[in-house]
Amino acid sequence: MKLLDGKAVSRELLKKVKADIDHYIEKKHLGYNLSRPSIAIVMVGHNAASESYVRGKIKACERAEINHKIIRFDESISTFDLISEIKILNKSHFDGFIVQLPLPDHIDPKPIINEISAYKDIDGFHPLNFGKMALGQKAMRPATAYGILKLLEYYDITTKSQHVVVIGRSNIVGKPISIMLGNDFEIGRSTVTSCDINTPKALLKEEAQKADIVIVAVGQAGFLTADMIKEGAVVIDVGINRLKSGKLVGDCDFEEVSKKAGFITPVPGGVGPMTIAGLILNTFEAWKMKHLIEN
Ligand code: GUN
Repeated sequence: MKLLDGKAVSRELLKKVKADIDHYIEKKHLGYNLSRPSIAIVMVGHNAASESYVRGKIKACERAEINHKIIRFDESISTFDLISEIKILNKSHFDGFIVQLPLPDHIDPKPIINEISAYKDIDGFHPLNFGKMALGQKAMRPATAYGILKLLEYYDITTKSQHVVVIGRSNIVGKPISIMLGNDFEIGRSTVTSCDINTPKALLKEEAQKADIVIVAVGQAGFLTADMIKEGAVVIDVGINRLKSGKLVGDCDFEEVSKKAGFITPVPGGVGPMTIAGLILNTFEAWKMKHLIEN
């Protein structure tokens, strides 16, 4: 079994983004003195998990030398007022911004996400970016799915003609990773089976046991057990669950699954840092788009 070290790969990608930004700034693209990318992170209320994720995002911005600002709103803000703030951010100097999820229960995230300018949507959640991604067009891509693809690419794990089982159908992870791996890209061209917690357990097991790559994103500690995978499978664990003991674990029974898997992501240190790398790569894309820098 080999660990897929998301923490190390993310650091390498951030270093590369920093160097690429330095390069364009030194080159004075189109004769301009470019300023470094800058992003905003909108937080509503105080959610312990979000506070921790955002600390990771800030650390990544620091590594890539991306300017960043946290904009906080009270838990009680109305949908109307939050949308007004987003309209302001759309017109601001920020190259990109995110609204950290989850939002308080009284705010439906859909109209909030829809209001974010697609050009500044560094989470890749806006329907325009999601649609472009699904059509295989250049777009800012949902950051976790993008990060997973980068991790597979880094370790030279082929996806072409591979059978991938994705467990979980969320808009931010399961759905986009299923679409991206089914697309006709270099990283893609897989045969994808999309399941979730409503898939009958026997059917889920039958499918997962045939899979070359299993991606699990259901938010339930111990959901994926060793009897559900085949020997040598690649296991990507997207879950982050805090046990009563305070320990952070993913969605798979790591101790047993890791004995059987060919590759596996640890939790923490696997997909989490790669999600942040995806966000930083999208930030770089948004900045390049704003300054008419072609790839
Ligand atoms: N909450 C959990 N993951 C994410 C993410 O990738 N982006 C945002 N905005 N909120 C999240």
